[in-house]
Amino acid sequence: MKRLEGKRALIAGAARGIGLAFARAYAAEGARVAIADIDLDRARAEAAGIDGAIAVHLDVMDQASIDASVADTVAKLGGIDILINNAAIFTAAPIAEITRADFDRVFAINVAGVLFTLQAVALHMIDRGEGGKIINMASQAGRRGEALVGVYCASKAAVISLTQSAGLNLIEHGINVNAIAPGVVDGEHWDGVDAFFARYENKPLGQKKREVGAAVPFGRMGTAEDLVGMAIFLATDEAKYIVAQTYNVDGGNWMS
Ligand SMILES: NC(=O)c1ccc[n+]([C@@H]2O[C@H](COP(=O)([O-])OP(=O)(O)OC[C@H]3O[C@@H](n4cnc5c(N)ncnc54)[C@H](O)[C@@H]3O)[C@@H](O)[C@H]2O)c1
Repeated sequence: MKRLEGKRALIAGAARGIGLAFARAYAAEGARVAIADIDLDRARAEAAGIDGAIAVHLDVMDQASIDASVADTVAKLGGIDILINNAAIFTAAPIAEITRADFDRVFAINVAGVLFTLQAVALHMIDRGEGGKIINMASQAGRRGEALVGVYCASKAAVISLTQSAGLNLIEHGINVNAIAPGVVDGEHWDGVDAFFARYENKPLGQKKREVGAAVPFGRMGTAEDLVGMAIFLATDEAKYIVAQTYNVDGGNWMS
């Protein structure tokens, strides 16, 4: 028996990286997935290779786009049982160089995007009356600040806090809201992080990745596939008594 047989999942920011790995893993467990992303071409190309998947345009900065992507997914899949709130952007700068425009953009995507996508899907789940599962993507960056990563860290701390509030508020409707806090996960996202540190810490490209990988107690950077077990578990009924939690899946980097 597949663990997500018959479930329908909307995965925000699933055209690449961790969200795409979740989409593949969910489909392999029997779910139908909506690959929702601002990059619709890439979402379409990836959906074509995944059984039962559809591609949906989603810009989490735009309320009309959030509402349309939820309506589109409900129309095409018949409902939404699971939301993974995975879309985010990374930014970094010393405190003296942070701009208001950068702050506004990161918070619009990483925080407001998470909240209002969660809200739109929760309204659908409440209306349907069958509960559901919502998984937010936090980060070890939300557990403590970092000298050069103030805005992104603050945005992920906000995701942990919103997960707690939404989890407490929505469990009366049978909606479990929880989060995953990855550590350092190799992929296109971390190519950008590495390039940033190359510039600010005067390192050759690839050096920061080697350093953070060596510092992980497990002995290497994570992969997107390292996260799929937790993402599947939190979406099953085995996790129905888990409410408002954020789980570290980070090779031992953080304990809380
Ligand atoms: N990679 C890591 O080391 C790491 C560590 C901790 C947490 N995370 C978190 O995990 C999640 C996935 O990370 P990733 O490494 O796969 O990132 P990624 O940058 O590879 O993927 C992010 C996806 O979000 C999409 N996106 C960006 N802006 C959007 C918008 N406005 N509307 C809709 N979609 C949008 C992008 O097109 C992309 O497909 C993110 O929330 C990230 O913060 C990643």
